[in-house]
Amino acid sequence: LPSQDRFAALARARYGEGTELPPGLTNPVLDLLLSHRSIRAFSDRPLPEGTIPTLVAAAQSAPTSSNLQTWSVVTVQDAARRQRLHDLAGRQKFILQAPLLMLWMADLSRLDRLGAARGTDMPALETIEMFMVAALDAAFAAQNALVALESLGLGGVYIGQMRQNPEAVAKELNLPPNVVALFGLSVGWPDPNVVTEVKPRLPQSVVLHTEQYSAEGEQEGIPQYDETLQEFSQAHGMGAVDWSRRALTRAGPLSGLSGRDRMQEFLKALGFGLR
Ligand SMILES: Cc1cc2nc3c(=O)[nH]c(=O)nc-3n(C[C@H](O)[C@H](O)[C@H](O)COP(=O)(O)O)c2cc1C
Repeated sequence: LPSQDRFAALARARYGEGTELPPGLTNPVLDLLLSHRSIRAFSDRPLPEGTIPTLVAAAQSAPTSSNLQTWSVVTVQDAARRQRLHDLAGRQKFILQAPLLMLWMADLSRLDRLGAARGTDMPALETIEMFMVAALDAAFAAQNALVALESLGLGGVYIGQMRQNPEAVAKELNLPPNVVALFGLSVGWPDPNVVTEVKPRLPQSVVLHTEQYSAEGEQEGIPQYDETLQEFSQAHGMGAVDWSRRALTRAGPLSGLSGRDRMQEFLKALGFGLR
């Protein structure tokens, strides 16, 4: 498709029929971003040589709070270790299929070691604020890596279930105190036999607030999105459950967190102060 038509098609895929984006602001980066989809089926084709340092350079190019760089990534290619992490993270089969598993860490241990080496007390590291700094740093870095790998034609999917057993994951990866694996990212070549689609998102009227917050857009926007996503789910064999019902089950009862409602306790056991 000519780029303008392709961009219009991407906007429709992201928001459903009838949605247009302003013409004229198209380029390959926007095309790539709007084309994102999580990949959960991988071929056994090996990764191009140099994939890991390239992705890490992209990740390290992300902004980082005060240039503190409070994140780390652990790469796992060993099949036996991937199997053990798969068992700890909801047994999602793409963890076994994808040749590379990247684990993204909030890492305050480097600054802790720096303080110890220089004989400096570091009480600030024991705050929720510093945990948030580290978690944000890790997320921005990982997302840069995801965009980079998608630009190479590779595919990936994040793995939040890596927080299911944080202490066992920490043990498997030999993490020191003050480091936690926030999420995984499976990376590989998309299986060419599995069709994937751009998943629609909430209308902009729901997430975009101009000057001041207003929930008004939700009244029309959410029922409209429920319909869009219900059609999408049905078309892709995921049943006809709409977004609202899914969200209520996932984010309502504590059981929707499958044990992760104990996160504060998990993080404290890993050495974070969270004051
Ligand atoms: C932090 C995070 C954790 C996620 N964890 C999982 C996961 O454990 N398993 C999975 O299949 N998808 C996981 N996903 C992918 C989301 O389900 C996916 O991004 C969302 O459904 C939107 O689909 P899309 O990425 O194809 O646009 C995760 C995404 C994020 C951002």
